[in-house]
Amino acid sequence: MSKSLFRTKNINSIIAEGSDASHGGGLKRVLTVKDLTFFGIAAILGAGSFSSLGGAVFNGGPGVVVLFIITGIACAFTAFCYSDFASRIPVAGSAYTYAYASFGELFAWIIGWALIMEYSIGNIYVSYSWSDYFTSLMDKVQLHIPAYLSTSYMEAKHAIEAGTKNEEILFAWNHSPVIGGIRMIVDVPALIINMLITYLVYRGVKESKNFSNLMVILKLGVVFLIILVGGYLVLHNGLVSNWMPENNAGVKSFMPNGFSGVMAAVAGVFFAYIGFDAVSVLAEESNNPQRDLPRGMIYSLVICTIIYILLTLVLTGAVHYAHFENVGDPLAFIFEKQNLNVGWMQLLVAVCAVVAMTSVLLVFQMGQPRIWMSMSRDGLLPGIFQKIHHKYKTPSFSTIVTGLVVGVPIIFTDKTFVLDFTSIATLFAFVLVCGGVLFLPRQAKEKGKFHLPFIGSRFILPILIVGVMLILHLMSNHYFADLFNFNVDNATLTYNVSAIVFWTVCIVLSIGALIKNWSLIPLMGLITCLYLLTGMTAMNWAWFGSWLLLGLVVYFLYGYKKSKLAL
Ligand code: ALA
Repeated sequence: MSKSLFRTKNINSIIAEGSDASHGGGLKRVLTVKDLTFFGIAAILGAGSFSSLGGAVFNGGPGVVVLFIITGIACAFTAFCYSDFASRIPVAGSAYTYAYASFGELFAWIIGWALIMEYSIGNIYVSYSWSDYFTSLMDKVQLHIPAYLSTSYMEAKHAIEAGTKNEEILFAWNHSPVIGGIRMIVDVPALIINMLITYLVYRGVKESKNFSNLMVILKLGVVFLIILVGGYLVLHNGLVSNWMPENNAGVKSFMPNGFSGVMAAVAGVFFAYIGFDAVSVLAEESNNPQRDLPRGMIYSLVICTIIYILLTLVLTGAVHYAHFENVGDPLAFIFEKQNLNVGWMQLLVAVCAVVAMTSVLLVFQMGQPRIWMSMSRDGLLPGIFQKIHHKYKTPSFSTIVTGLVVGVPIIFTDKTFVLDFTSIATLFAFVLVCGGVLFLPRQAKEKGKFHLPFIGSRFILPILIVGVMLILHLMSNHYFADLFNFNVDNATLTYNVSAIVFWTVCIVLSIGALIKNWSLIPLMGLITCLYLLTGMTAMNWAWFGSWLLLGLVVYFLYGYKKSKLAL
């Protein structure tokens, strides 16, 4: 057998392994296209819109809507790539399985490792946000949870170091019990919701499915109400001038902090879109995966993109962007007394946020064990990760480990850190998926199966890239020269280096497209996701690089030797 790091798995053998017959009865096939679309929405619409949208709007102003559109386009291209892969390889495992068939084992492992960030670490952020809304909901019904029992230690510590004036945090820091010299500040609701979700997922997909569908209907209803009531009041109260707010320098602009302000919101905005890809891990539980998975992914993505654009417009119309500083519950905030002043909406939004985030937690907590199950089948993880519960038919051991991987860091991390970490790792996985589709042979069209339309990139891509470069040059004839100015602050330096790498890759891909006439859709997915990566900070790259390095060590110590392809 091959010793190569790039040994690939044969697509037919992946499908055979994933079929019901080959793994002792396997998972139950119960999900329809409607369920998959609902799962998509359940995963997408959550902490991103209910929580991190506040910070995004504060950074970018109303102009952040442009970033939502760019990110929506990047995700749409990526969804097409996921759909192409999912229609060829309809088994659980998501991007990991797809990479195994195209790039080979090492890349598959790296992607599987990066996906732990998306599925498990992402859920830490959602758990924290869930806890924020839950705590404020409890407050509204006169049940106060002390701040030291509803804040993470690191968040409190960072806020104190930054000289916060937030009374809750100051109270938590000064009044928390101290045991053995350590302040007992723990986000208990975040821990409890994680335990409950783990239990539900352990019990089985059927129960989870019904629960999830119900929550999606509820959150869609409330989000539409926010858009209707908020939108009506923005127009009725004549607040549209907020869409051209004045910045600190007194200039009125749709992007008050410039485009760099908009790009500073990239982690939060991208986080809001994460989730459509989670649909693909349910391949083995869906009735007709080749037809239904692509549809579920694309339908849910389109619905959520429209919602985000409308929500951002309502938010930035209702309140001046600068007032969103440190606002963790922006959708409830716009209805507060000093803003649109609709009391009942505040309560409704708080209830809905708790529901919305519960459904996000559920989908990701279901996704992670299924990826590990695939990795275990390939020999890259110990066999116990693929153990299926005899009664509930769920990957029981992997589900419990997921609960621990989400739960334990809740005690030691904070929101900003996990948000950035999740977004960079997921974008990285998307880049590899889009790249993978480029290298797969073209598929003949088959009735009832998703087929990625082929649009040749030979002329379109080079014209597009040269056109955009020309426009940038015309808008500011220093744009490209400025990128080579390395005598700048650290943030600008990171952006400059990322942008130089980005434009170099674009030029190389344009030349490749001229010669090879690659398929335009995956190429655009690759380019747009790479573009979003230019918004990441040096710190994000450092943490992500260390995580990848750790993954490589684990691979060489275990997976490389134990892989089924090595035996
Ligand atoms: N997109 C998901 C959320 O916003 C991860 O919660």
